Amino acid sequence: MATVIGNLTPAFLPSRLGNSRPCVVKLRSCTAPVFRRSFAAITARAASTAFIEVEPRDTNPIVVQNEVTTSSNNILACPICFDQFSSSADPGLSVNSASGSSFQCSTCKKTYFGNQTHIDLTTASGSKNYGESMPVSTELFRTPLVSFLYERGWRQSFSVWGGFPGPEKEFELTKDFLKPVLGGNIIDASCGSGLFSRLFAKSGLFSLVVALDYSENMLKQTYEFIKKEENFPEENIILVRADISRLPFATSSVDAVHAGAALHCWPSPSTAVAEISRVLRPGGVFVATTYILDGPLSYIPFLRNITQRTKQISGSQIFTSERELEDLCKACGLVGYTCVRNGLFVMISATKPS
Ligand SMILES: C[S@@+](CC[C@H](N)C(=O)[O-])C[C@H]1O[C@@H](n2cnc3c(N)ncnc32)[C@H](O)[C@@H]1O
Repeated sequence: MATVIGNLTPAFLPSRLGNSRPCVVKLRSCTAPVFRRSFAAITARAASTAFIEVEPRDTNPIVVQNEVTTSSNNILACPICFDQFSSSADPGLSVNSASGSSFQCSTCKKTYFGNQTHIDLTTASGSKNYGESMPVSTELFRTPLVSFLYERGWRQSFSVWGGFPGPEKEFELTKDFLKPVLGGNIIDASCGSGLFSRLFAKSGLFSLVVALDYSENMLKQTYEFIKKEENFPEENIILVRADISRLPFATSSVDAVHAGAALHCWPSPSTAVAEISRVLRPGGVFVATTYILDGPLSYIPFLRNITQRTKQISGSQIFTSERELEDLCKACGLVGYTCVRNGLFVMISATKPS
């Protein structure tokens, strides 16, 4: 596999911040020719303000040519049994149908409830005396303060230190990867305050958008952002609380899973990607962004092994090479891995075999 390319990091060094001369760099794919074909015309421009602009030269709107006709929006399933809820229990999925809704599993008989903002489909939902804590990278985002700040500065900082092009540009890149599944349903896994879920819903390119997160407060933010927007298409989006390691969807029922800036926050990326692989239908697409802390040292096998061991012992899920991400997808049964890099930022895509 090819290595780091299109590295923008120098553009963000403090010494460059006062320089008003724009520097133009290319966002390039790490691997497959298929990707190279569709992204050859995409340029990233880093200005002195550390703002990156991705300019798709092909400005034609995306036309859903291969509308996915086999997919269904009746995809919710019990996170314990993975059995689909019966459609009669499904009041029609939308933001507004969550409040007062209930879903009973016909196998284990557990009932899951919706509240004003979301449907709680975690395995422990409804438990009164049981509580468990997740790792810091999950718990941090459950706090009201971090959830509130997320779209009010926190997320924007990723562009400054990590080369993230920003939601709109990332959305443009994501759409290209998702071309084979446009018209189908999409899970925005670990949606945070819903910045991509909202873009997916407003694009009209998907039959259903599921904004999914473990954080109740992030889902509350998502709900409030949706309610603030005029003419938001509320009928094709639902908000679901779930753990990425136990997805409440039927096996092979999902056309696309997107996970923005979340892989490194998950307690076990391999369990999560295996779950994503389980719920994707054959030909379904997984697109994710994260960052890679690599550098010249990561190419020395001896040091690579030390980094790997240190990660395992410390519990860190930060990726230190592109190879790791490719291996993760492959290990979880996904094929056709491709990626694009921009500094530390990486967008990856892989597909469930048909
Ligand atoms: C950095 S935010 C990413 C938000 C958004 N997707 C974006 O692109 O900015 C990471 C998100 O992962 C979520 N998360 C962490 N652990 C999770 C888990 N076990 N299951 C589901 N979501 C989780 C957090 O609640 C948080 O909203």
